[in-house]
Amino acid sequence: MSREKILIFDTTLRDGEQAAGTRLDVREKLDIARQLARLGVDIIEAGFPISSPKDFEAVQLLSKEIQGPVICALSRAVADDIDACGKALAGAKRSRIHTGLGVSDIHISGKFSDDKYGKTLEEKKAKAIEMGVAAVKRARQYTDDVEFYAEDSGRADPEYLYQVLEAVVNAGATVLNIPDTTGYAIPDEFGKLIKNIKQRVSNIEKATISVHCHDDLGMAVANSLAGVLNGARQVECTINGVGERAGNAAMEEIVMALRTRKNFFNIETNIESKHFYRTSRMVADMLGIEVAVNKAVVGKNAFAHSSGIHVDGFLKKRETYEIMKPEDVGSPSSKVVLTARTGRHGVRHRLEEMGYHLSTDELEQVYQRFLIIADKKKEVFDEDLAAIINDEIHTIEQTYVLEYLKVVSETDKAPVAEVKVIVKGEIKTATAEGDGPIDAAYQAIREATGVTAKLENYSIRAVTGGKEALGEATVKITENGKIYIGRSASTDIIEASAKAYIDSINRMASAAVNES
Ligand code: KIV
Ligand code: ZN
Repeated sequence: MSREKILIFDTTLRDGEQAAGTRLDVREKLDIARQLARLGVDIIEAGFPISSPKDFEAVQLLSKEIQGPVICALSRAVADDIDACGKALAGAKRSRIHTGLGVSDIHISGKFSDDKYGKTLEEKKAKAIEMGVAAVKRARQYTDDVEFYAEDSGRADPEYLYQVLEAVVNAGATVLNIPDTTGYAIPDEFGKLIKNIKQRVSNIEKATISVHCHDDLGMAVANSLAGVLNGARQVECTINGVGERAGNAAMEEIVMALRTRKNFFNIETNIESKHFYRTSRMVADMLGIEVAVNKAVVGKNAFAHSSGIHVDGFLKKRETYEIMKPEDVGSPSSKVVLTARTGRHGVRHRLEEMGYHLSTDELEQVYQRFLIIADKKKEVFDEDLAAIINDEIHTIEQTYVLEYLKVVSETDKAPVAEVKVIVKGEIKTATAEGDGPIDAAYQAIREATGVTAKLENYSIRAVTGGKEALGEATVKITENGKIYIGRSASTDIIEASAKAYIDSINRMASAAVNES
């Protein structure tokens, strides 16, 4: 029996990147986008071009480099935003502009408070329809594929929502995004909203209905599936469910629910689910947002059985306690072990399996670092390789380079750090005490560089097991209300911590150059 297909619209690089404290570099976006293409997503929302030169550059680069999925860019219902999308997407084989505005009374009265949008709420609502129509018409000058988002549909007056949707379809919108922006909806209610849109919007057959759900009440996936059951044929989601506040609907959960319960949904997707685990790892590593061990589908314990009764039942017959196979989502099973004797070819092969495609020079750089780590550890794991990629390839301009670090820590004495940092080609040295060895190193770096950004958060985690494990340090600093995240990995955790701090201040310097 043939099944109906739904389209998977990935917004990890746009809504996902809006998760508090995250920022992806252009090269990181490219690597994630390649992996998403490999996974088989139908549409990649690459960014919001007007929001920053980096976002513009990322959309432009993905338009040129990514083959297969449609490349989409976000805009408000504003001419300049739409023109920026049109320019950034110019190189794409298949492009989409995603434009729209708020449609709930709360959004309209809040965002359009200025009298220029009308004096009464009714006037403002009429103006919002005009703006939506104009935005869609303008976007259609750049592409035939225009998606309209009716922001905060989950809390909007349904009668007004139907009017907006009808008007934008008449103006040329081909996809209608019904976002539950605040994660307020309940599955039954959200499903009915989609059903009513199908029945009440007179020209609905000219457009595809899309659902875009947030997870504030933990119902993003359930709401998305309720939308699908009631006629939505595109789902917007992110890897690991990353996104604004509590996040977006998790792609791996939606796809695996449709697949595992195909007898119920009778719907399929183009997704090659065996790439989920690696994609999840890549996104977690690059965004610096770890996946909970008990996270459905991609958490480390998602296929781990430990209680006696479960293990016994599982060993006798897998299906007793498992509804999916780990290999269906690419969860690690046996594989080639990487050691100091693994050649370049083996390392390249593993990196490609992980979704990293490197030039010959880049591979050499990673391989040299791999050898240093392989000399210290018996086995190099995928997580070690991901940490090396972060250090060696996903780098940004090095305004500050840590040339030398010495930390002396003795019982009953304050630790002392000595650093040499190259600042724009000039060597700066400093010595400082601190509450602990890492604090001392940070004080010395601050003195050497003159950087005063506030340290908001610091964490260290063992990337893999064993006493020679790589430690990955993550540092969050803020300056003028902006957040910068730095990361670095080393088998020496004090060195990893100092380099992560240097990475964060380099990211801050690079952002300042881009914004100036
Ligand atoms: O949640 C939302 O409403 C959005 C729109 C911009 C599509 O992300
Ligand atoms: Zn959203």
